Amino acid sequence: MGVRRTAAGNASALRRNSPEPYPPRSLEDFPNMDAMVNPAGPGADSLIDVGDLHFTVASQAGEVNILRGITLRIEEGEAVGVVGPSGSGKSTLMMLLGGLDRPTRGTVRVAGHDLGALDEDALARFRRDHVGIVFQSFHLVPTMTAEENVAIPLEFAGARDAFGRARAALESVGLGHRIRHYPAELSGGEQQRVALARAFVAEPAIILADEPTGNLDRATGAQVIELLFALRARHGTTLVLITHDPDLARRCGRIVSLADGRVVSDRPVLPEAA
Ligand SMILES: Nc1ncnc2c1ncn2[C@@H]1O[C@H](COP(=O)(O)OP(=O)(O)OP(=O)(O)O)[C@@H](O)[C@H]1O
Ligand SMILES: [Mg+2]
Repeated sequence: MGVRRTAAGNASALRRNSPEPYPPRSLEDFPNMDAMVNPAGPGADSLIDVGDLHFTVASQAGEVNILRGITLRIEEGEAVGVVGPSGSGKSTLMMLLGGLDRPTRGTVRVAGHDLGALDEDALARFRRDHVGIVFQSFHLVPTMTAEENVAIPLEFAGARDAFGRARAALESVGLGHRIRHYPAELSGGEQQRVALARAFVAEPAIILADEPTGNLDRATGAQVIELLFALRARHGTTLVLITHDPDLARRCGRIVSLADGRVVSDRPVLPEAA
């Protein structure tokens, strides 16, 4: 299965360890916010650099301006929670960061790539080399086993021993006993753990997660989140986590709030003072 293409990108060179502060404390009156939000400084290259991003779609009712001027920089190793009301543009922003949509106006630079300038093939290579995505509804391929689903990104990268590494990734999420199961034969929590294994298996620099616990009960969701943060810590991955859960957002080092297609607040989260 899969199409063998060129060798895997050097995504791991982009990563560094930066454990998010936890537990968080309140940030009222926190000084020097800009320096915290953009620790690399205004001139430095950020892993994710979004400039005046607009995204408009045509619908029967006319044009819909979904994103209306988003500017945002995320540094290597950060964990950023993205919150905001339903319809505020969170999932749309994630699609643009992941190269699954293109800006109408403005720029999305990720890992040095100007995504608006890439053609479909180049975008596919970008995703393969730099990004792992976790969706609310798991998005596993129903006709493939857990092992095959996890092997997909490695197969696309032409990596050696894709299936051995897929099995190891499944073991790391506690599913070593389910590798030959199809998605329909797995519980929701198990399916999301397969999706986590798939997202991390090629060691991307960035994980984008859109309400990864939205379809899970509370206890199962909590287990999936523990796993997500453990994997992120192990691999030093930059994380963009969309959530409606304020407690979950506060597990990230920083919280970006969207409303009506704009960033309305962007704050670091610090541990409680001892
Ligand atoms: N193809 C489309 N055509 C028209 N409008 C769209 C389209 N896709 C999304 N929208 C609108 O864009 C807005 C933002 O959608 P998006 O899915 O990004 O919101 P969200 O913040 O992720 O919401 P939720 O928390 O409910 O998942 C919504 O008002 C939605 O109706
Ligand atoms: Mg959404």
